Amino acid sequence: MRLSSITLHLLTLITLCFAANAQTVTLKVETSKQKGIIQPTMWGIFFEDINFGADGGLYAELVKNRSFEFIQPMAGWQLHESNKFSMNSKSGDLSIIKTSDLQQTNLHFARATLHSDNSFTLTNEGFRGIGLKKDNGYIFSVMARQQAETAVKIQVVLQDSTGNVLAKAAIEPAGKEWKEYNATLTASKTVDNGKLSLVFSGKGTVDIDVVSLFPQDTWKNRPGGLRGDLVQLLADMKPGFIRFPGGCIVEGFHLDTRYQWKKTIGDPKQRELMKNRWNDEFKHRPAPDYYQSFGLGFFEYFQLAEDIGASPLPILSCGMACQFNSAELVPLDELDPYVQDALDLIEFANGSTQTKWGKIREQMGHPAPFNLKMIGVGNEQWGPQYIERYKIFSDAIRSKYPDMKLVSGTGPFSEGELFDYAAKELKTLKADLVDEHYYQKPDWFFKNASRYDNYDRNSYKIFAGEFAAQSVATVSPDNKNTWQCALSEAAFMTGLERNADVVYMASYAPLLAHTQAWQWTPDLIWFDNLNAYGTPNYYVQKLFSTNKGTHLASITLDGKPVSGQQNIYASATRDNSTSEVIVKVVNAGETPAQTEIQLDAKQKYSPTVKGTMLANSDLNSVNSLEKPKNVSPIDYTLSMKGNKLGLILPPQSLVVLRIKGR
Ligand code: AHR
Repeated sequence: MRLSSITLHLLTLITLCFAANAQTVTLKVETSKQKGIIQPTMWGIFFEDINFGADGGLYAELVKNRSFEFIQPMAGWQLHESNKFSMNSKSGDLSIIKTSDLQQTNLHFARATLHSDNSFTLTNEGFRGIGLKKDNGYIFSVMARQQAETAVKIQVVLQDSTGNVLAKAAIEPAGKEWKEYNATLTASKTVDNGKLSLVFSGKGTVDIDVVSLFPQDTWKNRPGGLRGDLVQLLADMKPGFIRFPGGCIVEGFHLDTRYQWKKTIGDPKQRELMKNRWNDEFKHRPAPDYYQSFGLGFFEYFQLAEDIGASPLPILSCGMACQFNSAELVPLDELDPYVQDALDLIEFANGSTQTKWGKIREQMGHPAPFNLKMIGVGNEQWGPQYIERYKIFSDAIRSKYPDMKLVSGTGPFSEGELFDYAAKELKTLKADLVDEHYYQKPDWFFKNASRYDNYDRNSYKIFAGEFAAQSVATVSPDNKNTWQCALSEAAFMTGLERNADVVYMASYAPLLAHTQAWQWTPDLIWFDNLNAYGTPNYYVQKLFSTNKGTHLASITLDGKPVSGQQNIYASATRDNSTSEVIVKVVNAGETPAQTEIQLDAKQKYSPTVKGTMLANSDLNSVNSLEKPKNVSPIDYTLSMKGNKLGLILPPQSLVVLRIKGR
């Protein structure tokens, strides 16, 4: 790998001998002084279907509006009319039929009628195009039936944006019953903006529904599964937990558009489609084609958690619609169905296969329990209405499942009257884990690195459930995932880690964003239809998560608690399973910092120390699809003398050190 000149410069700095006259910062680490374990859940991920994170993102379906269920049923589809065929012409027509069968959740389908022996083409545009990779296999499927004795044939064609054919296959639906037809196509070229065309020919009437195209190389090659490259980026973080499905999407604009987990399980073809709440939330980023097919539903979330070794953390509606939107409330005496949803979800995740919901989990292919240990009640709710409702949930869940940990929240505010009110009430209610959110400027993160140093040790534990430094302002479309934002988060996270006896979980938010279809920025991982990259913030999260250690260690800076003196932020842990001391140091200053790490003199240490550095001299640096590793970690080794390690921290850097005991 070629190192950039900045990287070489930084490496030179870090291995320089100490300058005789420069002031040295001493970081003293005492592994025996501070007791307490680092929770396995300490660093996790927050997933929400925002920015095309699910449909068009993690859920690998390539066809948009596959079941013609969008409010505009032909959205995403284009009918190519010719002199032989047009909508409602003598030669044939294409109609959208709505069934009146109340048992159905997938109500619409398309009916193509060809009166004379001719042909027409229906094209799906995908999610801002369809990404196709050369030599990759694509599995096409469709539900279809014929309405007459004479048959209509369908040719399935993958094309680039100008119509060049990249693969084709033929299917011949037969009979009057709905049946699934499949074909596998191999793309002859890589394109990020391809399309899928269905060419109908012959004479007769054919009905089609659930028109689907998935890449073969999904995560674990599961048919109808998740995008492999995106899941890999998540797995690489080794997250301690995954929170799902949000975020505001849990709450809904109105109560009837809240996230209802029971509607997201069972046969994906029958899951009831819904407009995504981020479809029209922001006037400055409209996304009229943003819907939730729920192909990625609660079963798949649990499965994903299991796959990547993360504890599942579902968050459910507590009977309050988003308070930034309609703020509708369910009356307290009508809250039962909401509470029942939570109890049933626990049974779905953990219940034996003899139970109603455990049996459904088994039927979906997972007889073993999903080992659910915690559940969230509401997302960003506030005020007495939340506390009243939380109490009802808490009583019901704790009486049936006393070991289940409950996640409650202080709302969207990181301080102030409403925050203080919720904190006081939740302490009285002996809440387990309380979710705090911080969408703030980088300065706030630096200043709040000591936020938890004096937190009440006799109260609940903290879940820093959504945080991200905003380079411009919260919900500004101009926010960027700059190195400055990531560095400030790293400084803040050293404070979370130093206080891991009270901070049990933390996650950056939001997680995913499509480069052409996002609503909210900044985000941890960006992707287009072919590729994905981690932001500088991603590498910060990954470095903390993959170097978390098992136990707390005490760390002081020049004999005092670490609080950003001389622009230095630091935390220390030990990993009992590998006999390592792990030190994380942020130098937020514009000049190199000469530093000495001092460990317990009674212990012996390997002279070779593993270091990883994330640094950039330009605070505005970002990663991109073109330069995905512009700001990314560099591994190197350092030498330890006895119990002391001297190093020069580059300006604006995060350094992680793993010091092996002997
Ligand atoms: O992360 C984006 C949004 O920010 C979440 O949906 C919400 O919980 C918060 O306000």
